[in-house]
Amino acid sequence: MSSSSAPILILGGTGTVGSRIASQLSSQGFTPIIASRSNGSSDRQPNSVKFDWLDSTTWSEPFSRAPKSVYLIGPPSLEGDKPMIEFIDYARSRGATRFVLQSASSIEAGGPTMGKVHAYLRELGQRGEVEWAVLRPTWFQNNFSEHGHHVRSIRDESKIYSATGDGKIPWVSADDIAAVAVRALTSEDPPNTEYLVLGPELLSYGEIAEILSEVLGRKIVHVDMSATELQQRHRDFGMPEEWARMLSAMDTSIKFGAENRTNDVVFSVTGAAPRRFKDYAQSVRDVWVKP
Ligand SMILES: NC(=O)c1ccc[n+]([C@@H]2O[C@H](COP(=O)([O-])OP(=O)(O)OC[C@H]3O[C@@H](n4cnc5c(N)ncnc54)[C@H](OP(=O)(O)O)[C@@H]3O)[C@@H](O)[C@H]2O)c1
Repeated sequence: MSSSSAPILILGGTGTVGSRIASQLSSQGFTPIIASRSNGSSDRQPNSVKFDWLDSTTWSEPFSRAPKSVYLIGPPSLEGDKPMIEFIDYARSRGATRFVLQSASSIEAGGPTMGKVHAYLRELGQRGEVEWAVLRPTWFQNNFSEHGHHVRSIRDESKIYSATGDGKIPWVSADDIAAVAVRALTSEDPPNTEYLVLGPELLSYGEIAEILSEVLGRKIVHVDMSATELQQRHRDFGMPEEWARMLSAMDTSIKFGAENRTNDVVFSVTGAAPRRFKDYAQSVRDVWVKP
C-alpha cells in the first residue's frame, strides 16, 4: 500500500460505489475527500466538498487539501467526456498524479463517453505523465436495491422488467468494485492498466427472480419485454429519450451474450472472493418488503 498521507479525492463520492470507496478508505486509515453536488448542503461532513462536473467554478475547492489521487465517476451525460478530460488536465495542474476512472464493462477504450476518457488516461500514462487505472465493472447487484425502478417493481408488483431474454450477466457487488478501486488508488506501484470487474456467477434476470423468490418467500417474476417496450417504460418514468434508447439497446446486447463471461479480477486484486448474488439479496431483503 502507498505510504502517501495525501487525501484521496472521490468524485461521485456520495453514490453507490463512491460512498463505499470513501468508507473503505477511511477504515484503512486513508483520508477521502467526498465530492458531489449535494455536498454543498448545510449538513455536509468535514471531509465533504461541493463539486459539479458542469460548473468548473466548483473544481478548485478540493485542491485546497492537495489530493494526489482522484477517483472519477462521471456525470450522467452522453457528453460527459468533455468536462472530464478538461478536469483531468486541471487536476494535473493542481498536483494530482494518479487517476482511477469508473467506466463500464460494455465500453472499450476509445468507445463512447467513458471510453474516450479511458483512452485519454491511457495515452497520458504511456507518455509517463500520469499513473492510471480504469475499472470496467459489469452490472451492479445493487441496482436491485438502490435504484428506484427495480426496488418499486419488486416490492409493489413482485416483478422485474428487462429486455434481456435469457441473456446472462456476471452481476458484481458495489463493495467488490470499491475494494478494487481502493487498491488501484492506494497501491505503492501504479496499476497503469484496466480491470474488467465481474462477479462470480452468471445469472439471467429470470434466475435473479428465482433467487429473490427464495429469499423473499414469495414469487418474483421476470417480465421479458421487447427493447421498444422497455424504452417506452423508461420514458414513462421520465428518463430522457437518448438515455432510454441507450439502456434498452444495452439490454438487447445482453440478450445476445455481451455480458456472458466471468473472471477472477476481484480475487486477484483484492485477495477476497467476490460476493454472490444470493448473499447480497439476503443482506438487503427488507427493501423489497412492503412496510
Ligand atoms: N449501475 C450499473 O449497473 C453500472 C454498471 C457499470 C458501470 N456503471 C457506471 O457507474 C457510474 C455510476 O456509478 P454509481 O452507480 O456508483 O453512481 P450513482 O450511485 O449513480 O451516483 C452518482 C454520483 O455522482 C454524483 N453526481 C451526479 N451528477 C453530478 C454532477 N453533475 N457533478 C458532480 N457529481 C455528480 C452524485 O451525487 P450528486 O447527485 O449529489 O451530485 C453521486 O455521488 C456510471 O458511469 C455508470 O455508467 C454502472
